[in-house]
Amino acid sequence: MHLSKRIINTPSSPIRKFAKLEKEALSKGIKVFHFNIGQPDMETPQKIRQTFADFDGKIVLYAPSRGIPECLEAWKKYYQSQGISIETDNIIITLGASEAILFTLMAICDPEDEVLIFEPFYTNFSGFAAMSNVKLVPITKKRENNFAFPSIEEIKAKISEKTKAVLICNPNNPAGTVYDQTDLQALVDLVKEKNLYLISDEVYREFIYNGIAHKSVLSFPEIEDQAVVIDSVSKRFNHCGGRVGCLVSRNKELTEGILKFAQARLAVPTLEQLSVVPLLNTPKEYTDSVRESYKKRRDIIFESLRNIPGVECTLPQGSFYIIARLPVNDAEDFVSWMLTDFEDQKRTVMVTPAKDFYLTPGLGKDEIRIAYVLNEDDTKEAMEVFAKGLNKYLKINT
Ligand SMILES: Cc1ncc(COP(=O)(O)O)c(C=O)c1O
Repeated sequence: MHLSKRIINTPSSPIRKFAKLEKEALSKGIKVFHFNIGQPDMETPQKIRQTFADFDGKIVLYAPSRGIPECLEAWKKYYQSQGISIETDNIIITLGASEAILFTLMAICDPEDEVLIFEPFYTNFSGFAAMSNVKLVPITKKRENNFAFPSIEEIKAKISEKTKAVLICNPNNPAGTVYDQTDLQALVDLVKEKNLYLISDEVYREFIYNGIAHKSVLSFPEIEDQAVVIDSVSKRFNHCGGRVGCLVSRNKELTEGILKFAQARLAVPTLEQLSVVPLLNTPKEYTDSVRESYKKRRDIIFESLRNIPGVECTLPQGSFYIIARLPVNDAEDFVSWMLTDFEDQKRTVMVTPAKDFYLTPGLGKDEIRIAYVLNEDDTKEAMEVFAKGLNKYLKINT
């Protein structure tokens, strides 16, 4: 039967690509340390879980398409706590950040339109772009340059008649970079001049380790109609399975347009929306403590990587990911080998090859991404196993 070009062109998630090999390793009784997916091992807060336990209604009704008023108010209050003043009609609650990205691309681009993106980037952006027939145009941030913000000239050179937006992720998955006021101001000036949208995925807003306060694109009044923030509680409150996110924009035409998409898919689950209200009202209670844990995990991983000869990496400033260059020709081969051919006392480690975080062919072939989502003891143990694995792989392959 016929399948659309759209579905054929949509890539499989590289994060899940090795699931079959992982299953085989598990079936051999091997413990697999998971550094491959941004699913932290921390508990979802009790206040979230309590909502489900307390529910005694007889019917779970559809929520309003924009979101339950109580949840919209809680998001508004959350943004106030971040120093950002918005109204509830600037918000649309979505099925995680994922749906917010998809809705935004579909709302601002026609098929074949272009969106500029800094690579390496969160790989599922490729999937959302393929689903909405949008062409992502990469601007490379180089590892040798600590994945620093590209120059405005480099960005300008990629703008064409089809460009509709610049899409950033700050703090960044996968590079761990954080864009500061100067970087953002330069970008804001550019999108203002070129009349482009600036879409900013800020799901890791609270996870910054160098003491710098996060700067949202919503805090630049000069691009009020052009700024769109993509947000989620998946990482912030370790509630990945709750699927509650939102998009925020002060551009009323845009949000009212996107509301039509939201109406077509009816609603985001009712109890899940209600469950996040207490945390959105008092976010710091949770995020301050988990930030400290991530920082400790980051430091263990960074030190371990630096002690492995031939491995290169930069200390991440935010999110909970690190990119490392390995002394291998093909990181994908190494990642598979760790699952199929290696074990150390029935233990192995699963990481993600970084190739698919780039669009430019050839880039990231010798890089991996590690998500620092395991507790400190497991992180230490997993890094020991990882180092042994890499050492053995290099002996066999050189
Ligand atoms: C940068 C970024 N945006 C969006 C998402 C997806 O978030 P959600 O679970 O809210 O759909 C992720 C998940 O890893 C992410 O890293």
